[in-house]
Amino acid sequence: MEEIVLYEKKDKIAVVTVNRADALNALNKDVNLALLDCLDKAAADDDVRVVILTGSGNRAFIAGADIKEMLPLSSPEARDHGLRSKRVADKLWNLEKPVIAMIDGFCLGGGLEYAMACDIRIASEKSKFGLPEITLGIIPGSAGTQRLPRLIGLTKAKELALTGEIFDAKLALDYGLVNHVVPSETLAEKTYALADRIARQSAFSAKMVKTAMNKGTETDMETASLFEINCFALCFSTREQKEGMQAFVDKKKK
Ligand code: COA
Repeated sequence: MEEIVLYEKKDKIAVVTVNRADALNALNKDVNLALLDCLDKAAADDDVRVVILTGSGNRAFIAGADIKEMLPLSSPEARDHGLRSKRVADKLWNLEKPVIAMIDGFCLGGGLEYAMACDIRIASEKSKFGLPEITLGIIPGSAGTQRLPRLIGLTKAKELALTGEIFDAKLALDYGLVNHVVPSETLAEKTYALADRIARQSAFSAKMVKTAMNKGTETDMETASLFEINCFALCFSTREQKEGMQAFVDKKKK
């Protein structure tokens, strides 16, 4: 039987692919548990410098949580469901390596919530975004109501979550929700090039950038700046700092 989430390693890049193309990669319990395993695997492998999260087929990144699975849930069961999805979103957010969402098609509901928990989002021109939960009589349950306003501002985020409107990649770029929009044919190439560029930097610095920005934007400026200084200072215990600065002084090309 085909794995429901695929894990591949290409040089220093781990690619995690939700593999339910027939259901537009909708997130059911098995997908979420497999995602947790794959992200743990990437976290534990020192060779892995960058993770790419994507969906299989050419129609969807992830079209949201599995509506068929959610339909009969009671409130306590829905809470467990939400807590499980939260674990995945938190793992993406807290993974000590940059995560890039490679989006080719529908990126809806829980799919958008997971993409927003990643560090960088690259989308194909045909991609479609939205938090359509309200049209199903629910609301986002994996921090969508929290991450969307933090990424694009409260004004637009409220409108999108209150209407459930599906919007295109150009608008997602205008909102600052995605980093780049490219044709489908060049999406993988563009994503790998960016992942490779990050993978060639100091792994420790990458971890510190991610940690300082994620933690810092959740606290006041003074605490955040001091936290950043601690991250900065820790870099001076690494070989990459000594070698990187020595190479500059010696006028050697990196
Ligand atoms: N949960 C479960 N199954 C889903 C799904 C979801 N979130 N999204 C798509 N699917 C399934 C469909 O049921 C269908 O399966 P079937 O062939 O067994 O009937 C298959 O994926 C293809 O989807 P379909 O709706 O036929 O494709 P479409 O091109 O007509 O429409 C969408 C695509 C994305 C607009 C539509 O599938 C959709 O609205 N999905 C739900 C999006 C959503 O509300 N997500 C948030 C959930 S909280």
